[in-house]
Amino acid sequence: MSSTKNSTTEAPQDGLIHPEEKTAGETMDLLRFTTAGSVDDGKSTLIGRLLFDSKSIFEDQLDALEQTAVNRGEAVNLALLTDGLRAEREQGITIDVAYRYFATPRRKFIIADTPGHEQYTRNMVTGASTADLAIILIDARKGVLTQSRRHAFISSLLQIPRLVLAVNKMDLVDYSRDRFEEIVEEFRTFSKHLDVEEVTSIPISALKGDNIVNSSESMPWYDGPTLLHHLEHVRVDARKTQGGFRFPVQYVIRPDQDYRGFAGRVVSGSVQRNDEVMLLPAGQKTTIKAIDTPDGPVGQASTGDSVILRLGDEMDLSRGDMIVHGHHPPAVTTRFEADLCWMNGTALQIGRNYVLMHTTNTTAAVVRAVHHRIDVDSLSRDPASTLALNEIGRISIETARPVFVDPYRKNSATGSFILVDPETNVTAAAGMIRAETAAKRDSAQSAESAIKSPNTFWDPWNIGREEREKRNGHRARVIWLTGVSGAGKTTIGRALERKLWDAGIKTMLLDGDQVRHGLNGDLGFSTADRTENIRRAAEVARLFYEHGNVVICSFVSPNRRDRSRAASLFPDGAFTEVHLHCDPETRQQRDPKGLYRKAREGKIKSLTGYDAEYELSGPETLSIKTDRIGVDEAVAQIMKRVFKDNI
Ligand code: ADX
Repeated sequence: MSSTKNSTTEAPQDGLIHPEEKTAGETMDLLRFTTAGSVDDGKSTLIGRLLFDSKSIFEDQLDALEQTAVNRGEAVNLALLTDGLRAEREQGITIDVAYRYFATPRRKFIIADTPGHEQYTRNMVTGASTADLAIILIDARKGVLTQSRRHAFISSLLQIPRLVLAVNKMDLVDYSRDRFEEIVEEFRTFSKHLDVEEVTSIPISALKGDNIVNSSESMPWYDGPTLLHHLEHVRVDARKTQGGFRFPVQYVIRPDQDYRGFAGRVVSGSVQRNDEVMLLPAGQKTTIKAIDTPDGPVGQASTGDSVILRLGDEMDLSRGDMIVHGHHPPAVTTRFEADLCWMNGTALQIGRNYVLMHTTNTTAAVVRAVHHRIDVDSLSRDPASTLALNEIGRISIETARPVFVDPYRKNSATGSFILVDPETNVTAAAGMIRAETAAKRDSAQSAESAIKSPNTFWDPWNIGREEREKRNGHRARVIWLTGVSGAGKTTIGRALERKLWDAGIKTMLLDGDQVRHGLNGDLGFSTADRTENIRRAAEVARLFYEHGNVVICSFVSPNRRDRSRAASLFPDGAFTEVHLHCDPETRQQRDPKGLYRKAREGKIKSLTGYDAEYELSGPETLSIKTDRIGVDEAVAQIMKRVFKDNI
């Protein structure tokens, strides 16, 4: 076979949801397209046919295919080609999209192949996000199904400008022109309302090869282009990720004292040595001292390049932070509106904690409101309070930590995100950011957006926190002590409060055992009850915090997301989580309330630290080993962390 057309290889995966391939220095024209359709529509066969007829597959793969066919005494099964490639990549890659390259003398192509299965929406969203064109594959016998409409609608949400309606399996409808035109008409009526520039309809048979690469002899009535001809000639617009310079930090590289660099990939724009840049979230300005690559330093890096940036000043950045150009920076925000494609069997729950992944940033997030749901058959906006599997709608979201976002229409890399269900770790949704709604959190804002009773209204505090802080002569803070029974929360909490009190500080001590008398007396120790216990405790802490106090909270709070949700009620820097750690023997020996004894005797169940789990937080949590150090030293360490030697 011809060797001029070559490879089918896979793009590198680095956990980002927008694999951006190198574009710098490419002279040849490139088209990225995606294929959407379920397995039954013949998608694998179509891709296989494209690669096969344009002779773009590796020879050894072709040999293997032919060998299989010979062994089985049948024609070459093109679906095996793509399915075989898929099997390779399914090992250990979480996002189920393959990027496959092929080329003809006219153009290079990248196919984001989004395998069918049930989770097609997710595959489509993640795979299609950078495509120039989407092929909507339709089974001529079945016509335009809800699923086809959904694919087309998602393509328009993702701002893919061009669609190809590939009406497949024409051989099974006797190559009927009437059937083809009926389907085209039905799709046209629907797609009128979509935000796409161009729809091209082509009757094909992937299995028989009609109108894929070669014109069909069975459909003389069709005088349009073949699929490959269309792909080779369709206009390709400037990429929508060619916005401002955005560099999400993936890793800090520090092999020795003299070298400190930030590794990552330029997801949009480009940067040059000596450029002035801005560091997010803090907003400090500095310059690019050097751009390092495995092949040595370079003067410039642009979209898709993986590089290490060194900065003019010693700066503290970590994974998830972003280096950008100071003119047109992204919004630094904790609240925004987005279109969400829900991909999880468990429906969206307002107020529930999800993990939001945005570029290299990961943070807890809560959906605050569902504004509407789109009916994909009629494209009408229906009122809704949730989104179920495969549903699409507009929502407002709030993140625990700030994210650095652009609207999707300006930048698909910093304009999109996924939500992960923290309990099952599966991708629950993919989102396209429409608008950021507030630049900076303050506590009053989270009160406004809190879960609330109907027909209630939030007024600003009568006397604001800042005024109170001024009179008190100290800042308000929240210190959250967490850990298993017997770790020393109550003892250290009390000693800490006494120390603050003696220094003239206004304090409030909220202790689990006390709050569970009265206010939370209706709650037990199931996971749901503990979540509610912590939710109420954090809301009470917020009230006292807004009233200028240093609030000490001591709760077992074994679930990480309960704690991060508590933290999300407070402005950055106001909340300090302190984990009190103690080895099992010591805490069972201490057993201040006799709980471990009772647990051993089987009189209480699910005691945290005995037969119920405690989830650790990340490294930003201050961890104190109370089996090694005394109460005074523990108090001193907390004071140092919270007040940095300056109350
Ligand atoms: S939390 O898990 O919901 O954060 P919290 O700190 O409010 O717990 O209350 C813990 C106190 O409840 C313990 O100090 C102990 O006295 C009591 N308690 C009773 N049963 C349990 C249990 N199964 N696990 C932990 N604490 C328990």
